[in-house]
Amino acid sequence: MKIQIVNLSEENLKNIPVWESYPYSCKYCIYWEYPEKFIGLKKKNKYEIFQEKLGWLRRVKKEFGYCGKLIYIDRKPAGYAQFAPPKFLPNLINYNAGLPDNNAVLISCLFIFDKNFRALKLGKRLLNSIINDLKSRNVKIVETFARKDKASNPSGPVEFYIKNGFRVYKDDPQFPLMKLDL
Ligand SMILES: CC(C)(COP(=O)(O)OP(=O)(O)OC[C@H]1O[C@@H](n2cnc3c(N)ncnc32)[C@H](O)[C@@H]1OP(=O)(O)O)[C@@H](O)C(=O)NCCC(=O)NCCS
Repeated sequence: MKIQIVNLSEENLKNIPVWESYPYSCKYCIYWEYPEKFIGLKKKNKYEIFQEKLGWLRRVKKEFGYCGKLIYIDRKPAGYAQFAPPKFLPNLINYNAGLPDNNAVLISCLFIFDKNFRALKLGKRLLNSIINDLKSRNVKIVETFARKDKASNPSGPVEFYIKNGFRVYKDDPQFPLMKLDL
């Protein structure tokens, strides 16, 4: 099994698989970036949504640097991660735990979308790759809104983050804010 992790780019975003269920693919998902446009996504033109996502990626890359990673297994994309300073992720205001630190980087998404490749430590690899990247960029704090009752959540469940050294920073019955000091 050949495993590669690469930075998310405008080019490789195009190649992320599409699936049946809403929002059809990470490449069409603007839940974190444009929450007001995410509502009613089903009725919107996928091409236009994709352009919105590309525009967001371009803006964050310019101001912050690379803000996502893809994991490939034997050259096929199997997982997606996205992260950025809080100001680029306006949907965070809809989480009740409280606001992330201004100087933190928030992991908005971490998803092994190919079910066949879950529980093989690929999520851990993807997370470690983000952490190492952010350390090299002198980031000191990483945070994420994880989920307590199940894994189905943009960045995954609380247990996954606890196993990877995070702690509950701002608690909530469902979506606590988790924190790791780098
Ligand atoms: C959550 C997810 C990212 C974890 O990645 P993974 O590759 O499956 O997990 P790993 O094999 O790297 O697990 C690392 C550790 O976290 C734990 N862990 C992972 N998923 C877990 C879960 N759902 N519940 C409890 N613990 C979990 C593992 O047991 C492992 O612990 P260990 O180190 O003691 O063995 C992945 O399973 C996933 O994407 N699931 C789907 C979530 C979803 O529906 N997301 C919707 C996105 S829009």
